[in-house]
Amino acid sequence: MAASVIDGKAFAEGLRARVGKAGAAFEAQTGRKAGLAVVLVGEDPASQVYVRSKGKATVAAGLESFEHRLPVHTSQADLLALVARLNGDEAVDGILVQLPLPPQIDEKAVIDAIDPAKDVDGFHVVNAGRLAIGEDALVPCTPLGCLMLLKDRLGDLSGLEAVVIGRSNIVGKPMAQLLLRESCTVTVAHSRTRDLPAVVRRADIVVAAVGRPEMVTGDWLKPGATVIDVGINRVPAADEGRTRLVGDVDFASAAGVAGAITPVPGGVGPMTIAVLLRNTLVAAHARAGLPPPEDL
Ligand code: GUN
Repeated sequence: MAASVIDGKAFAEGLRARVGKAGAAFEAQTGRKAGLAVVLVGEDPASQVYVRSKGKATVAAGLESFEHRLPVHTSQADLLALVARLNGDEAVDGILVQLPLPPQIDEKAVIDAIDPAKDVDGFHVVNAGRLAIGEDALVPCTPLGCLMLLKDRLGDLSGLEAVVIGRSNIVGKPMAQLLLRESCTVTVAHSRTRDLPAVVRRADIVVAAVGRPEMVTGDWLKPGATVIDVGINRVPAADEGRTRLVGDVDFASAAGVAGAITPVPGGVGPMTIAVLLRNTLVAAHARAGLPPPEDL
């Protein structure tokens, strides 16, 4: 039986609409819009595309967008000075420094400098620690978006076997923490895992976040599993000179075995920016001493 396709684009549109409503209510209560500052250093083409779409989505949701574009040779001291200024700016609720940063800048030092209350990426060690011990935290956008899709599809996740492939600080580790918080039995698999197909075959939930095109195939899956594909890989297309986007999961074979699966594009991708806006609003409420917005 063919898997049902999880429409991340439609879910993300719904979330953005709810953020828009909650943002308007925040403005009515506080007299100001929630604000997101995005910092881009250099001219990496992919980063420029991301930053532009983050800015557009922020404005479309009725939030305030502050964009800071710095030259590629910006020093670490100058970037840290900007972060310090944004930390102190009352109009700024969320700060996102687009990664990767140029080689002269220490990414960890920059992330550590962001006020954890404004860390809408959820990358600061304080937020990672809070998530790990089960306290309220700002949670990285991509894994939180994956969890939202899973709960929308499956409801209660408690007792399910979840296998996360990939152990990055940005996706794999926070994803595992979120699934543990939902009372899943969680396995984190990685490049040294022995017999990965056998491990994945145990899973009711598979989250693939390794950056290897079409690595997970249908014969690795338990029939009926829910498959979340975080990968976005550009590979050569059949026609000469063109490229296409594929995930970490071989969609064609997986869709014949899985119960539900996210496509690439149109699955997890659109969720990341929607959750970023959600996190900005959550941060704005906390900073204003208001209870968290409902329904987000
Ligand atoms: N670069 C690619 N994805 C992300 C992200 O989610 N946050 C930041 N800060 N940089 C990124």
